[in-house]
Amino acid sequence: MQPSSRLDRLPPYLFPELERKIREKRAAGVDVISLGIGDPDTPTPQPVIDTLARAASDPGTHQYPCNRGRPELREAFARFYDRRFGVALDPETEIIPALGAKECVFNLNLAFLDPDSVALAADPGYPVYTGGPLLAGAEAVLMPLLPARGFAPDLDAIGGDVAERARLLYLNYPNNPTGAILPDGLFERAVEFGREHDVLVVHDASYTETTFDGYVAPSFLETAGARDVGVEVFSLSKGWNMTGWRTAAIVGNAEAVATYWKLKTNIDSGMFEAVQLAAAAALDAGPPAEVTQIYQRRRDLVCDALAEIGVDVTPPKGTIYVWAPVPGGHTSASYCELVLDESGVVVSPGSSYGPNGEGFFRISLTVPDERLAEAVERLRGSLGG
Ligand SMILES: Cc1ncc(COP(=O)(O)O)c(C=O)c1O
Repeated sequence: MQPSSRLDRLPPYLFPELERKIREKRAAGVDVISLGIGDPDTPTPQPVIDTLARAASDPGTHQYPCNRGRPELREAFARFYDRRFGVALDPETEIIPALGAKECVFNLNLAFLDPDSVALAADPGYPVYTGGPLLAGAEAVLMPLLPARGFAPDLDAIGGDVAERARLLYLNYPNNPTGAILPDGLFERAVEFGREHDVLVVHDASYTETTFDGYVAPSFLETAGARDVGVEVFSLSKGWNMTGWRTAAIVGNAEAVATYWKLKTNIDSGMFEAVQLAAAAALDAGPPAEVTQIYQRRRDLVCDALAEIGVDVTPPKGTIYVWAPVPGGHTSASYCELVLDESGVVVSPGSSYGPNGEGFFRISLTVPDERLAEAVERLRGSLGG
């Protein structure tokens, strides 16, 4: 057996030691609480499930789906963008459903990168922005996201050869893992950058619907000129508790959407049509308000407890994560190990999201309130003194 060498290009997996420890703890009878993964614990809205059940009973949905998506779904995305962002999209040319933002982001790398080209990826950032370009045989160049800049990449610092070779620029606000919201002027600067260097700007809008304290996240496509240079990847996973359904779309620049579609027709056969109809119903109903209320309550619980034990944390206005600095004397990895050892609570080391994640850890708010309260109590008890 000879696996492809392209797999050797992927960075080393940073969780094995932590995972070994979790297994060890569980085997020793410790009730481990994992705040590691961002996967909503509350259910998909019932009307969406009901629509799926009805649609799945119709044999008309049982055959290969059309990879362009059913008109009902593309039109529902267009209505949603119009209502929510004031952005008018043409469902014929500017929207294609995707099997999750992850599939879409990964395939954009295959659709747009050649071996000597570059994708500009946030550091720290969602791992597919860096793994995807490597698997496409290209290069990922990291753009540091630093607290002092509000976790905005410095696009003025990208010049010369890298800017020449760049074909994709990934942005994501509200941001995983930092919880940052869109820094002022970033989308406008990204449009200029896209124009200056002939780069496709890809805004990953996975968390625009999970925001707090009255903050309303914009779409990249609201920015003047955005549609000339960019696309947005919109996902139902987090806002509607639909991670398992694999429902998202690429929207925006028609040429980029068509290029993605051309690639995709060669890779998968689209989204189960009953799921497409359920996703259309979800979009028309809008994201349930309770989802964000739950995360806001949990965010407050976690941030208050961290503040009490002396961790200097800024409560995020979006996403489903709290991004906090590790106390002095620790690396991200050593602190996460200590937390697990002392309290049986799993948090993610910031360094697993890129070199500039070092010095931070991430807490996911996707466990039931009682478990989160228990985790917080344990953190208070074991790390507070
Ligand atoms: C920034 C970001 N993009 C994309 C995804 C994946 O989303 P989906 O479930 O739509 O594939 C995630 C999941 O955590 C994410 O954090």
